[in-house]
Amino acid sequence: MRTNVVIIGAGPAGLMLGRLLELAGVDAIILERKSPDYVLGRIRAGVLEQGTIDLMDRAEAGARMHAEGLIHHGVELSFDGDRHRLDFSDLIGRHVMVYGQTEVTRDLMNVRKAQSIYDAEDVELYDFDTAKPYVTYRQSGKTHRIDCDHIAGCDGFHGVSRQSVPQKALTTFERIYPFGWLGILVDQPPVADELIYAHHERGFALCSQRSHTRSRYYVQVQTDEKVEDWSDTRFWDELRLRLNPETAEALRTGPSIEKSIAPLRSFVAEPLRFGRLFLAGDAAHIVPPTGAKGLNLAMSDVATLADALIEATLDHSPAGIDVYSAKVLQRIWKAERFSWWMTSLLHTFPETGPFGRRIQRAEFDYLCGSRVAQQSLAENYTGLPS
Ligand code: FAD
Ligand code: DHB
Repeated sequence: MRTNVVIIGAGPAGLMLGRLLELAGVDAIILERKSPDYVLGRIRAGVLEQGTIDLMDRAEAGARMHAEGLIHHGVELSFDGDRHRLDFSDLIGRHVMVYGQTEVTRDLMNVRKAQSIYDAEDVELYDFDTAKPYVTYRQSGKTHRIDCDHIAGCDGFHGVSRQSVPQKALTTFERIYPFGWLGILVDQPPVADELIYAHHERGFALCSQRSHTRSRYYVQVQTDEKVEDWSDTRFWDELRLRLNPETAEALRTGPSIEKSIAPLRSFVAEPLRFGRLFLAGDAAHIVPPTGAKGLNLAMSDVATLADALIEATLDHSPAGIDVYSAKVLQRIWKAERFSWWMTSLLHTFPETGPFGRRIQRAEFDYLCGSRVAQQSLAENYTGLPS
């Protein structure tokens, strides 16, 4: 087989890249290790920036998102039960949309006409430092080969693409946080119209949602916690303790339909181009989820990469691919900074002790009293320009 671009991974990054290339008339094949149902079974991000909304429209995949997505004009911050609402529309004239990553993925899968190969095992990348790269994979016991001009590594943090790059060509920057998020999905109306990010001495909590009837809640837990040790009742009791009393009272609980623990990590690989291989999305970087940036950052990477690959394929111009890495890394580091900052403000860090908690309180009080500080948070949360 031959194609212009082999895309490895059919998460949101790979599917969006594939769709943008398809619409421009650039031939691309997506290779995904898992089945479509498995990919759709992952419960992950829930908040879309305007740039992601615009990109879904450009991909001609935005109709259901506009019909079912919920526009949010602000969020609430809470510190030991003291509440403060940030009104993004008033502060900077922008908003975000609540629409789950699962739905984004489903919509992108549905609009795609070109070839996607699921259940592709043992994907391997070859000769991307030459003009004739190729990729092999196994399916039903047979090995297949796809020759191509470029390879896009959109295969997430544990994918094969970044691992295929010689170690000496790659610099990585990493911070692993000493806690994770235990998340629960429940078919009950959300406790509030907007998201609540809560700092409490027992740890961080987030009240999020997927729709008017489906809610998503998270609590900070220690890294060594096991999901099996968290019954639904234990989760709800812990969440209530971390919210202010009125919110705790209003919480509508029920049996969980999904429950999982995600570790928190900041990670960036540099550079993001190796000859004819490009890394994008979680394959290139990880942010802790506190700022709701992971999915949005993946989308902004592939918007830039799509334009670069279209230019390289149709105009035979390397201008876009030559600057891809430096261009997206600028935005990536700003999102890394914001996600790290939100994480630092809202979580409890055992090692920083009472001094650290006082500093966090001072930061919260400063934020509540400063419109400029609120505008800075709002600008970053709703998404910086690409
Ligand atoms: P992925 O979604 O990881 O997609 C990569 C795809 O590549 C997968 O389908 C995978 O199966 C496939 N793949 C992997 N290896 C191979 C291979 N060798 N060959 C072929 N295919 C391969 N962000 C938020 O903003 N809020 C959240 O609440 C949130 N929760 C998260 C919870 C978890 C457990 C994780 C892991 C991430 C979470 N994120 C969250 C981050 C967000 O979901 C990601 O940033 C987003 O999924 C990135 O999309 P992606 O397409 O780059 O990678
Ligand atoms: C969700 C996850 C986040 O990390 C976040 O900041 C906001 C919402 C969610 O899963 O709904």
